[in-house]
Parts: sequence; C-alpha cells; structure tokens
Amino acid sequence: MTAVLETTATAPTVRRLRFEWPEDLEPDWSPQTPELACVANAVSMLMPHVEPYVVRSVRTAIDDLDDGLRAEAEAWVGQETAHHGAHARFNRILLARRPALRRVDRWMALTYRWLGRRSDRFGLAYAAGAETVAFMVARWVDRRSSTLFRGADPTATTLFLWHLAEEVEHKNVAFDVHRAKGGGRPSFALGMVTAMVVMAWFTTLGTLVGLASSRRILHPAAHLRMLGWTLGFWFELGPAMAGAVLAGHHPSAMADPVFLPSWLRCYDPETRTMPEWSMDVARP
Ligand SMILES: [Fe+2]
Ligand SMILES: [Fe+2]
Repeated sequence: MTAVLETTATAPTVRRLRFEWPEDLEPDWSPQTPELACVANAVSMLMPHVEPYVVRSVRTAIDDLDDGLRAEAEAWVGQETAHHGAHARFNRILLARRPALRRVDRWMALTYRWLGRRSDRFGLAYAAGAETVAFMVARWVDRRSSTLFRGADPTATTLFLWHLAEEVEHKNVAFDVHRAKGGGRPSFALGMVTAMVVMAWFTTLGTLVGLASSRRILHPAAHLRMLGWTLGFWFELGPAMAGAVLAGHHPSAMADPVFLPSWLRCYDPETRTMPEWSMDVARP
C-alpha cells in the first residue's frame, strides 16, 4: 500500500551530540536520588535494542511515503540512530562497571531479536506505540526535571534530557508512518501496550539489578521513592494511553511540555553540544 497521508510538518533536526565519558564514570551518577540513576541506566540499556528495531521497522516503509513524510521519516531515523549510538557508548562503560547488568542486556537482545521476527506491520505499530510512550515519559520527566536531577552528573543528565527533548520533537513521525501504511487503531494499541510492557519489565529488572549492585536493594527510602514515581507515572500514563487509541486521536493533539523543547533550541551545531544541564537551566 502506498502512502496517502499528507503532511506539512517540517522534518526534525538531526543533532549528533558529542559526549565525553570518563572510563571511571560513576554508575550512581545521581547521588541525591541514587535510585534515579538505576532507573535511567536500565532505560539506557534498552535503547540500543529497541531503537534499532523501530528504525528498521520504519525503514521498511520509507520508500512508499510521500515526499514530506519521507523527509520527516529520514530525519527521524537520523535522530533515533544518534540516540542509540550515544546510549551505546554510555552503556559500554556502565556494563564494564556493573557486570551484573550484562545478563539483563543479553535478555534485552534476545527479546528484540524475537520481536524482529514479527511482521513489518507489527513493527510499525510497535514503533508508533513506543514513540507515544516515549513522548509521555518526556512529558512526565519535564515537569520534574529540577527535582529528579538535583545534584546529578550534568553530562549524564544532558544525555537523557536531550533524548527526551527529541522524543517530543518527533512525536508524530512513527505514528504518521504507521497510518500511511494503512495501520489501524487496534494494531497501534497492541504495539503501544507491547512496547509499554517490554519497557516496564526491563526497566524494573535493570533497576533491581542496579540497586543490588550498588547495595541499595534493601533501602526502604529508595523503594518508597520509586513507588511514588511509578504511581504518579501510571496515573498520567493510563488515561493518556487510553486517549491515544481513540478514533481521531493524533499525537500532535498531545500538549508539549515547556522546558525540554526550549532547552533543545540551545543546541550549537558548530560544537555539536548543548549547554550542559544544571539547576540554572532547569525550570524552577
Ligand atoms: Fe529515541
Ligand atoms: Fe523516538
């Protein structure tokens, strides 16, 4: 089926940020909220598995798209490729410092190898659903960035916030490709739920292994804080996911957060850097 969806949006900007990581990078890079680093590290480990899968899925459709959507999809591929490349470099040091996480990494690889054997149509639905979840994560983090990342390593924080900011910027693209290839609401809902379950499972598993490695698995305060994040996140995510599967819904109808898009505009293409995140640039 060829593309029938007209799009007038401009293509996202590909920013290949340069990050310099010390080989002795501290895996617990958020000392004031150490469990945050464990959660974020688990998410980072997932990226070099999930993002190549969704990129391959969208690439299967790219030749069938109209010129406007094709330009957007190509830029989207560029952004996602930059994301998982940056996470892979971060993860290499993380896994060297936390060898217990390597087994989780292998399970992630097996899971996405299995998903990669599903149909192209499912892959596109998964990509569209995963992108909706990523946008919701970005919106949730945006409002809490100044408390979540208080005292955190600025380079690691910049990696995660740059990634989330671009998830906001390109929130429509995979959904539009899914629709342009004739994908419907039920398959989108299946893709979104599958993406959510896989992400939740591996984030939980990676976080628990990370907490055990940093000897915080028995700290009640860590679990209470994570329970608060989880409940708050699901309280927002549940209704948003339900709304996303309704007929007529389009990701462009979801309100963008405020901080991340404005911070992204500070990217310097000459140096391929962002002003590193700090409490000074965070919203109050
Ligand atoms: Fe991404
Ligand atoms: Fe994305």
